Amino acid sequence: MRAFSISALACFVLCTAAQTFQRLGGCPDLGCIFPPDQVDFLAGQYFDIRLEVHSPVNGSEARVGEPDENFTFTIAKKGKKPVPATLYFNLDEPKLERWNFTWYEDLFAQDASKPSLVNVTSKIYRRVALYEPGEYEATLSYYGEQRTVANWLVRDLPPKRRAKNVVMFIGDGMTTNMITAARLIAHRSVNGKYMTKMALDKFPVLGHQMTHSMDSFITDSANSATALYSGHKTTVNALNVYVDSSSDPFDDPRFETISEVFRRRYPNSGVGIVSTAFLADATPAGLAAHTSNRGEYDHVIGAYYEGLKDHEWTDWDGPDVLLGGGAEDFLESEKTRDYYKLFAEKGYNIAWNNTALDSAPDNEKLLGVFQKSNLATWLDRNVYQANLLNQSNYPDGSGRDAEDLPGLRDMTLKAIDVLDKRHKKDGWFLMSEAASIDKQMHTLDYDRALGELLELDDTIRATIEKLERLGQLEDTLIVVTADHGHGFDVTGSVDTKYMDAQDNDRSKRNAVGYYGKSGLSQYTVAGPNSLQYSEGVHFPARWDPRYTLHSGVTAFPDRRENYQVHSEGPRTPAEAADNEKNGYFASYKDAVTGFVVNGTLPLDKGEGSTR
Ligand SMILES: *[C@@H]1O[C@H](CO)[C@@H](O)[C@H](O)[C@H]1NC(C)=O
Ligand SMILES: *[C@@H]1O[C@H](CO)[C@@H](O)[C@H](O)[C@H]1NC(C)=O
Ligand SMILES: *[C@@H]1O[C@H](CO)[C@@H](O)[C@H](O)[C@H]1NC(C)=O
Ligand SMILES: *[C@@H]1O[C@H](CO)[C@@H](O)[C@H](O)[C@H]1NC(C)=O
Ligand SMILES: *[C@@H]1O[C@H](CO)[C@@H](O)[C@H](O)[C@H]1NC(C)=O
Ligand SMILES: *[C@@H]1O[C@H](CO)[C@@H](O)[C@H](O)[C@H]1NC(C)=O
Ligand SMILES: *[C@@H]1O[C@H](CO)[C@@H](O)[C@H](O)[C@H]1NC(C)=O
Repeated sequence: MRAFSISALACFVLCTAAQTFQRLGGCPDLGCIFPPDQVDFLAGQYFDIRLEVHSPVNGSEARVGEPDENFTFTIAKKGKKPVPATLYFNLDEPKLERWNFTWYEDLFAQDASKPSLVNVTSKIYRRVALYEPGEYEATLSYYGEQRTVANWLVRDLPPKRRAKNVVMFIGDGMTTNMITAARLIAHRSVNGKYMTKMALDKFPVLGHQMTHSMDSFITDSANSATALYSGHKTTVNALNVYVDSSSDPFDDPRFETISEVFRRRYPNSGVGIVSTAFLADATPAGLAAHTSNRGEYDHVIGAYYEGLKDHEWTDWDGPDVLLGGGAEDFLESEKTRDYYKLFAEKGYNIAWNNTALDSAPDNEKLLGVFQKSNLATWLDRNVYQANLLNQSNYPDGSGRDAEDLPGLRDMTLKAIDVLDKRHKKDGWFLMSEAASIDKQMHTLDYDRALGELLELDDTIRATIEKLERLGQLEDTLIVVTADHGHGFDVTGSVDTKYMDAQDNDRSKRNAVGYYGKSGLSQYTVAGPNSLQYSEGVHFPARWDPRYTLHSGVTAFPDRRENYQVHSEGPRTPAEAADNEKNGYFASYKDAVTGFVVNGTLPLDKGEGSTR
């Protein structure tokens, strides 16, 4: 699983420029200002300003001469006189930097290996802030008469603190279609009316947000986490920085996140991070890291451990509670320090299994890492437990199996206990992520993805109950959101018995109950060998009814579908045949009784779906 996501990630990093055909996202002409045009800030939120002047050496924009080394930069509050930035912020003039970079103008240039070369001059102003609310105009002047202008809005802070605590739930990659499907398989309806509702359905306020990336209409978890935690849009793969054109993933202009602002303004407050992903993954990482490359895992774990003190950025010294997967990034190796030892020396208790998590003292800091890679899914932990065996994934690196695993609910409730104990007076912020809704949708494992969504819903329900017991519900803002979504939908039902009995791909398709023939959900009807149907806690009574969901996503590799639960472990829908150059093909053993569905994605994509 993990190897799969790393290779996909590497490609996202390398392919971004080529696929978007932009010299530099957010840079409208040969002068670039970051933060770019149309950005807004909170009053007092720290940020860096990066300026670049480009001199394209060749390609369609080629010009003669070196990039301007004497460009100037001013800031003006609307209606006032522009002031040089050094005066405005009372800073020394930063030193001039120079570099060059290449980019492809289109697919033809890429096929011909003809990148366009750009020479750059640049300056960066570190850690500034605008304290007065209102509209600002930032102007870069270069090459004599040329100007690039960025309009910024500084928003006022509300005078009154409304909530003492915040729990932010993120259903990674979750869409309303998935919520509808999850409700369908876990809640009974009678004549078109649901007898019970999801915890999600009972929230008093429902809103919509747009987390498009700054320069690509498809979003990933890194730039959407950035948008959610900082209010700033950025580029795919970037965490809490605007992406400049230099090759260094750590020199990009940063902006402050909610965890950093919160801890700066309320030094005795606490932060908790919980995820079912490996902890260096983008959604948890967005609360600590500042890098243009989400794949810089050691930077992420280092940022949890010691903040970014080295980088003269904040005094944020890491979360009180950090719970999830990804032991490989904590174990000492050529690339990584022995983070278990370092965290322990800093006063953290370390938990490697659910029993240890449960018994860890609530009044001390807690690091819980429960296996290598992403945590096993709810479906494997609760229904198909044999899939937990022979994984050699115990988080201490000993090679035994991690079997005593917590789920999102166990981790979230424990995190609340610790935060409440340590920061009852000053409040706390907790982010809890159901990561494998996204991860399982990538591999077209709809059952596992929906199981994760239902576990998120169960966690929300249990969180509300816990806050009520602690007397904290009235003082806690609970937000449930997705960060981006996959193009998933349910389009009918499938008679799996009929499908299995057909002997060719075309007649197998007649097993699909389309439109008025889709019937009703069979997942809540208990059958032989099924689980107890649960009231209060809602999961399907069975995952293998005869009539299953006909569902899928809009972007996928060649695959086979039999629309049945993969009881022997998470799906691998496509495999590289012999040579990865020939691309991915449908895996036969993934769905032996099903039919081939030919793919829509480029051939080198073995995972499906949009981000
Ligand atoms: C690009 O920059 C390099 C290094 O600064 C310099 O040697 C070269 O002359 C520049 N090329 C052009 C066309 O400006
Ligand atoms: C930039 O300014 C410096 C110092 O004033 C001057 O020596 C240099 O010639 C200028 N460069 C250009 C390209 O105008
Ligand atoms: C680009 O920059 C690198 C190092 O910064 C330099 O070695 C190289 O010569 C430059 N390339 C060109 C074509 O100017
Ligand atoms: C631009 O110059 C670089 C370095 O000399 C070269 O590799 C590249 O092919 C050139 N690109 C175009 C579009 O001419
Ligand atoms: C859980 O962790 C504790 C503390 O490290 C250890 O003593 C215990 O054996 C572990 N249990 C399992 C089932 O691995
Ligand atoms: C685990 O591995 C052992 C030895 O390799 C094998 O005997 C056993 O069947 C495997 N169990 C599962 C559930 O795959
Ligand atoms: C459809 O998928 C199958 C299995 O991967 C593959 O063999 C076949 O070439 C594909 N057909 C087309 C038209 O891509």
